[in-house]
Amino acid sequence: MALMLKNARVVDPQVGLDEVCDVLLRDGRIVEVGHGLAMEKGEEMDLTGKVLTPGLVDMHVHLREPGFEQKEDIASGTRAAAHGGFTAVCAMPNTDPVIDNAVGVEYVRARAEQVGKCRVIVSGACTKGLAGEILAEMGDMCAHGAKAFTDDGRGVQDAGMMRRVMEYASQFDRVVMAHCQDDSLVGEGQVNEGVASTRLGMFGWPAEGEELEIMRDIALCRLTGCPLHIQHITTARGVAMVRAAKAEGLPVTCEVTPHHLFLTEDDIDDTYPTSLKVNPPLRTASDAEALAEGIADGTIDAIVTDHAPHTDWEKDREFELAPFGMIGLETSLSLVLTNLVATGKMSYGRMVELMAVNPRAILREEPVRIEAGSIADLTVFDPEATWTVERAGFCSKAGNSGFIGCELRGRATDVLVGGYATLRDGKIVE
Ligand code: DOR
Ligand code: ZN
Repeated sequence: MALMLKNARVVDPQVGLDEVCDVLLRDGRIVEVGHGLAMEKGEEMDLTGKVLTPGLVDMHVHLREPGFEQKEDIASGTRAAAHGGFTAVCAMPNTDPVIDNAVGVEYVRARAEQVGKCRVIVSGACTKGLAGEILAEMGDMCAHGAKAFTDDGRGVQDAGMMRRVMEYASQFDRVVMAHCQDDSLVGEGQVNEGVASTRLGMFGWPAEGEELEIMRDIALCRLTGCPLHIQHITTARGVAMVRAAKAEGLPVTCEVTPHHLFLTEDDIDDTYPTSLKVNPPLRTASDAEALAEGIADGTIDAIVTDHAPHTDWEKDREFELAPFGMIGLETSLSLVLTNLVATGKMSYGRMVELMAVNPRAILREEPVRIEAGSIADLTVFDPEATWTVERAGFCSKAGNSGFIGCELRGRATDVLVGGYATLRDGKIVE
């Protein structure tokens, strides 16, 4: 089957493309890119006024299956991903049971194959049960398709254990993705330690609780040579450490979330909004500025959501009792378009690097380029579409977004995975 995508503004910095042209697909691949293309037989879509990019990848997503299907499952989470413009997500292993062996990896892959609306890249745990004590079956998980390793949701507390994790992962050329959190400093911390914790009268989660593990893991990256990816970085000093590690030539990358970029501790007012309880916590305005600088100068490699769905009854509790996390798949692209691209702070090309090119490279996935021969994983968005974030509009089972009520500009309209539409005119293709 041939599909002709007509008249979109096609943006792909990998091939130096940013112009209005046509893209012809056949059998799941791009076969031609050019002007005034014609085909003998097939379907045509007119994308005048829209932007077409390599398919977006969110490399930090909690799909919650197996074990927490009341919050989200692979079907609903991947629908949310497609609705938000993503062609692939990397699923975190903090499920129940934890994805710490080959059977778990196979389960998530098989389920995604059956019910997924996007590709699901599986990450395995570093340690059994995320307990930080015994190595998970990393080799076996690699053999069964795990693409990365992380104990996300927790930091690996013991430096010697983290060293072994990294030595092991590097043998398989797999990246270790680090959730940096020193429990001895973070303890019962609820919000950023400082003005916010004092004002709200809650235990603080200090910047140092994150920065000490970033520093340690960079040192272990130097020691082992293992590729290291710092997850959801939030502090100015954290960004500076990654910048220095890159300058030294270490294989270190990092990611940031829209909520740490566009919200701060000042947004947590005396209504104690539990949707803003996230881990790591929202930091100060100057931290958020440093994150924006890290994006601008290339220190930060990826924008991810850390999509962390929870039920209403879990979040509708006192702040201290509510779980950490907010959803993000269905607002991420629009938030970036509204706050960074429309304001002139970021080009479409840089956005494509952060949300498509770099995540694939970090996870060692086959690149997607807008050129003949490439897999047809593509995202199309309408940069002018304005909309208001409403809970009722989500495909996710959960509603714990910190952006409800926000007016956004720019929204995904069409998503193609291997040439097949998963989103058409903003609606999920059943
Ligand atoms: O806020 C968060 N929620 N941060 C994490 O690291 C884990 C996640 C979750 O699993 O809910
Ligand atoms: Zn995390």
